Amino acid sequence: MSAPESSQAEDAYFASNAPPKQLAAHTALAEAFITQHAAANRRVVLVTSGGTTVPLEKNTVRFIDNFSAGTRGATSAEYFLSAGYAVIFLHRQFSLLPYSRHYSHSTDCLLDLLEEDSDGRVAVRPSDSDRILDVLRKYQSARRNNMLLLLPFVTIGDYLHELRAVARLMAPLGASGLLYLAAAVSDFFVPPERLSEHKIQSTNIVEKLYPKDTPSPSPQIEDEETFDNFDASPRVPRSKRLIIDLDPVPKFLKSLVEGWAPLGMIVSFKLETDPRILVHKARYSLERYQHHLVIGNLLSTRKWEVVFVAPGREDRWLRVARHGGWGDAEGRPLRPDEVPEGDPEQEIEALIIPAVAELHDDHIAKSSSVEKK
Ligand code: PMT
Repeated sequence: MSAPESSQAEDAYFASNAPPKQLAAHTALAEAFITQHAAANRRVVLVTSGGTTVPLEKNTVRFIDNFSAGTRGATSAEYFLSAGYAVIFLHRQFSLLPYSRHYSHSTDCLLDLLEEDSDGRVAVRPSDSDRILDVLRKYQSARRNNMLLLLPFVTIGDYLHELRAVARLMAPLGASGLLYLAAAVSDFFVPPERLSEHKIQSTNIVEKLYPKDTPSPSPQIEDEETFDNFDASPRVPRSKRLIIDLDPVPKFLKSLVEGWAPLGMIVSFKLETDPRILVHKARYSLERYQHHLVIGNLLSTRKWEVVFVAPGREDRWLRVARHGGWGDAEGRPLRPDEVPEGDPEQEIEALIIPAVAELHDDHIAKSSSVEKK
């Protein structure tokens, strides 16, 4: 798509898909946050996290979703905070959050870490105290110093409006702004003109009671068969199948790189399930959007290994100890001597964030040398 075409697609998308109600409030919060940290000469990262929903109805009962729990985003945000970044965490509502993620999951429920002491007060079990204290201190420090701004979204439309608004606010940060796009973004959606206003019915009851273009009478429920169809084993077979016709969501990485935050460092993720195409698709994305880094990951091994694909650099695999991973772009398993040794509990983000921060240092250095010339 040429630049004018992509800008037309952008204008058309944002004109026809309404912004979320909280956009103005979120923008004000993000602006104040960015101003505060820019004044302190601190680096700011926008981390996107979690899945975007695709509503099937305006009054939404049903929607399409994806697998992401927001683990990558929430974990990355913690490591960015440890590295001194101020973090805007644009996340799917109710997905995992930095710090609380350690205790919000059903396998590590907070209540299981508590006990009642002899005075009837709630206390942390002594065996869990150290690890909770470590997380608590980091969490409280982030809050006290206003280092973490949480902005929730739900739908793909909300996400794109919020992404555009925050990215534009980050533009004045120049090269010291970092955009780290780990959200699992829908590729398909139902455009507003094809969205059903109300809950999609599984029978033709509404058409029967309110024929098209007739004023709404008060319903006279005379037709027993219509309602019989709600039954689990209806006498009259269900008459409707639901066929969903989805449009592609325009890709906005080009707008991000060229218009919204043109000097910032932009890191996108590439998710695949077939190891043979991962590196190829990551490289293609980099060439197409001309940004700074694609982090490739496979659904099945994303917690243990990722590959960095960056312009002018060799592909770089990062791996944690516990898993052999896929090995290479052809899906060749690792040889035993290639499997990293080390702490099997280490999170892959402990390797990803320092490596991203290093590339960010280079990005800033390069842009200041260009400015000097
Ligand atoms: O949350 P977890 O369970 O920890 O999983 C983490 C993750 C696998 C979701 C994460 O590591 C990841 O890979 N996120 C990106 C998933 C994704 O959207 O991949 P994609 O190949 O569909 O898109 C590639 C890039 O294009 C994304 O960075 C996205 O920002 C961008 N995109 C995608 C769709 C779209 N319509 N417009 C876009 O701009």
